[in-house]
Amino acid sequence: MPWMTRWAGSFPLFIAEAAGGRFVDVDDNHYVDFCLGDTGSMVGHSTPAVTEALVSQSRIGLTSMLPSGDALVVAENLSRRFGVSKWQFALSATDANRFVLRFSRFMTNRPKIVVNDWCYHGTVDETLVILDEAGRTVSRPGAIGPQVDPSVTTRAVPFNDLTAMEEALRHGDVACVLMEPALTNIGIVLPKPGYLEGVRELTRRYGVLLVIDETHTICASPGGCTALWGLEPDFVVIGKTIGGGVPVAAYGMSADVASRLERMLDRDSIDVGGVGGTLSGSALAMAVMKATLTTSLLEEHFAHTIPLATRWANGVQDVISSKALPWSVQQLGCRAEYWFSDAPTDGAQAASRVDHELEEYFHLSALNRGILLTPFHNMALMCPSHVDRDVDLHSAAFAEAVEKIS
Ligand SMILES: Cc1ncc(COP(=O)(O)O)c(C=O)c1O
Repeated sequence: MPWMTRWAGSFPLFIAEAAGGRFVDVDDNHYVDFCLGDTGSMVGHSTPAVTEALVSQSRIGLTSMLPSGDALVVAENLSRRFGVSKWQFALSATDANRFVLRFSRFMTNRPKIVVNDWCYHGTVDETLVILDEAGRTVSRPGAIGPQVDPSVTTRAVPFNDLTAMEEALRHGDVACVLMEPALTNIGIVLPKPGYLEGVRELTRRYGVLLVIDETHTICASPGGCTALWGLEPDFVVIGKTIGGGVPVAAYGMSADVASRLERMLDRDSIDVGGVGGTLSGSALAMAVMKATLTTSLLEEHFAHTIPLATRWANGVQDVISSKALPWSVQQLGCRAEYWFSDAPTDGAQAASRVDHELEEYFHLSALNRGILLTPFHNMALMCPSHVDRDVDLHSAAFAEAVEKIS
């Protein structure tokens, strides 16, 4: 991937093997892994259930264009977690988001979508946008080769700003709002009290579908923020970790959306509707999702990982406080992150306070002490195999790194 050129230290480590919350590089250096494949391995590397599912399913057929019995178990499990009743499958969260946007425009017959300024929902054209200084929706820095001017497809609005949300929706041309319930890709930006309820109320008032992307925010609970905060989305998107490291994703829809879609879709041309993929929902995908969802991401795991994230955040906060640094640390479930400013309340604020040099210094310093953080921000994710000792290693490394530059 192009982004591998950006790992701290000018080159990526080459991995030899990983298990649980740790990995070993090809030079036999051992690391605590707080990156966990940027959520792809949030359940821990190579859980026994996923390994077993991979082996067993490979003996009885990997893909066939037919549903397997596992599909029911997976869909019912996801419904219990997120409260929406019908599920379809994709190979990545990017694809799942693309399909949901297509369904939304189709159902509402409206051309535009709304996203949060500085959001990230994968490599989805319509979402690679930010607001410029004049408040116009433009391509985000670094987005290459947009098909069309993104202001044609998208309106961006700052997170935590209901006035801007209403302004974006009131034109009557918006099919859906696609959002993370807390931003996790430009630091962690938590919703202010009433913001998410306000978004739901506005989307209902203007006939706009609400898509909640839980791909990262599954860190908050077994049913992500949707379950934890009682959200009522029309679509839920979830990718990355539900395959235990195997590329899979799912998107769920409410019973009402599903029945509207069933009435509207034309059976004769459904295979070329622009949704789906040959290997999506394969027997392999279903087997690994069943293995993951039935043995991982359970209440008991969060009961272990959330306190670990709190311990990690406290370790960082202690250093920040003791040095009276104007920095902050945020936590969402089993994910925590520090930022070189007070806690941002929207994406643009967070982006304006990025300090690449300082960030690289902390990442490299952590790596040299046997700790991998999530690249491009200062994020740590806990998995069930992590223990207090792993977190304390980070607290000590962070203290040492701060001491060296203060
Ligand atoms: C919230 C969110 N949605 C979607 C994606 C896209 O996931 P993938 O790259 O696996 O398609 C990401 C990736 O970081 C993400 O953070």
